[in-house]
Amino acid sequence: MTRVGIKPGVTYHPGYLSADQQGVLLAALAAILREAPFFTPRMPRTGKPFSVRMTNCGKLGWVSDEGGYRYQETHPETGRPWPAMPRILIAAWQELAPEAPLPEACLVNYYAGGARMSLHQDRDEQDFGAPVLSLSLGDTAVFRIGGTARRDPTTSLKLSSGDALVFGGPARLAFHGIDRVLTGSSTLLAQAGLDGGRINLTLRRVSPA
Ligand code: SIN
Ligand code: FE2
Repeated sequence: MTRVGIKPGVTYHPGYLSADQQGVLLAALAAILREAPFFTPRMPRTGKPFSVRMTNCGKLGWVSDEGGYRYQETHPETGRPWPAMPRILIAAWQELAPEAPLPEACLVNYYAGGARMSLHQDRDEQDFGAPVLSLSLGDTAVFRIGGTARRDPTTSLKLSSGDALVFGGPARLAFHGIDRVLTGSSTLLAQAGLDGGRINLTLRRVSPA
């Protein structure tokens, strides 16, 4: 396994998932999407829609609307519990975050048609002891990660299909975001009936162990 240290607490694993593993994950995602379709999150207060669509799997899911950012046990539109986290995701967590208690949430972000994600921190969890594990599928994206202050200098890296990135420890609260997605750089998502684009999965531990 290739490990590239980006900065303290940030490790990049290019090509972490093989083509076969990406296929397995995509098939699991297709089943998740049948049970828990993508919803369009909205900004707290303003209600402005995100350009990214989302769903979740695991016990808890991250949602955002006029009521704020939060984790909840049910899909905001269907009211049903989130689908279980597929085995392949738990296996990736156990390999890449071996010290951490098991993940409770996996946020699935879908970037299509110029979607992006502005710099933010993942800080809605009750405990920051565990890292965040990110896995990417489909089109390559330009990811940016900085420090724990918004004005800190940032590093950009391209996240391609199958890549994993772990940020924890001193980088657990690092600002990060997606500047743009390189449309058409992968054909993988067509296999799941999606019209291209990129899927990013972030696994998180929400509560203290
Ligand atoms: C996120 O920060 O939720 C997503 C990051 C990514 O899409 O790579
Ligand atoms: Fe994030």
